[in-house]
Amino acid sequence: MTTHTRYHNFSAGPGALPLSVLEEAQRNFLNHEGKGAGLMEMSHRTKPFESVLYAARDTLAELYGLPDTHEVLFLQGGAHLQFAMVPLNLGAGAYVDTGVWASRAYEEAARVGPAWKIWTDKANNYRGVPAFGTSFDVPADAKYLHYTTNNTIYGTQWHHVPETTLPLVSDMSSDFLSRPLDLGRFALVYAGAQKNAGPSGVTIVIGRKDLLRTFTGAATVPLIMRYPIHAENDSMYNTPNTFGVYMVGLVAKWVKAQGGLAGMAAQAEEKAGRIYGVLDAHPDVFEPHAAPESRSRMNLTFRLKGGADAEKTLLAAADAAGIVGLKGHRSVGGLRASLYNAVPRESVEALARLLEDFAKR
Ligand SMILES: Cc1ncc(COP(=O)(O)O)c(C=O)c1O
Repeated sequence: MTTHTRYHNFSAGPGALPLSVLEEAQRNFLNHEGKGAGLMEMSHRTKPFESVLYAARDTLAELYGLPDTHEVLFLQGGAHLQFAMVPLNLGAGAYVDTGVWASRAYEEAARVGPAWKIWTDKANNYRGVPAFGTSFDVPADAKYLHYTTNNTIYGTQWHHVPETTLPLVSDMSSDFLSRPLDLGRFALVYAGAQKNAGPSGVTIVIGRKDLLRTFTGAATVPLIMRYPIHAENDSMYNTPNTFGVYMVGLVAKWVKAQGGLAGMAAQAEEKAGRIYGVLDAHPDVFEPHAAPESRSRMNLTFRLKGGADAEKTLLAAADAAGIVGLKGHRSVGGLRASLYNAVPRESVEALARLLEDFAKR
């Protein structure tokens, strides 16, 4: 398959992967690096897989400039499993509610034990995130503050790290690897790989070694739900998603070749700027969902002033132009364009032109 037979893919996740990564995986699919079998057919206890996992781990650490105090794990179960593992391992947390996933994290924590929702934008249908400098009123018993860096459904994103004296825990599923960030400031972050980092089925957890290697939760917590069991076994306590970890490693290598996280951030700013530029140029046609200061560079959400009929017309035109994945999440309606790292500039240009043509009809 060549580039022009692939869609312009704006899916919210699983989302677009870099073509060169897919091609490299394809070349290795049947015979991994000349070892005589595909990686999926090899034990995770073999040297070829171990070196795949260590390389993926080290490249992620290098991209973030991760300090020695922190380490990288590859788990399974998606962000949802982390919604549960975080409170099971770290105890009671204070949660910032910026949308569906943030409130799911809170609800899961509230099932495990005490949890506090300390801020919510629900009444405003999650158009924003707390402003820079917001101080949170946190209960004395809270062990950490949890927030979601990018709200995939609403198209909002934090452009700063919250001010708090509590250890920070963050769901970075939909903007992981999209910008430089000092992860040394965080107690723990997690991200399902399926947006910016690889295929579904792998969850990246990056956290402070002292937290990941010392279990302080209840004796009834199963071993598989404890961070130390995964940390002490180099993410190979049970069989990892071997092929998924391999893909994350290839994507991380690709990000490095793109100028690392600073390179990704520059591209994201340019790509998102192009589309927001079109939306803002036609306020009589498009209505962005997110408050301007909270706009996401990953997921751009907007409605059409012309309502459902106009949406249908635009989606049909998109389909004809090979542009897919634009339908918004049901809780926001309208349209959503996810401009993840691997969405090429040509696709963004195709979308910009589609929107411009639509506005000029
Ligand atoms: C920010 C965020 N958190 C959590 C999830 C849920 O992830 P998973 O399906 O990997 O559990 C998603 C999925 O879209 C997401 O975007």
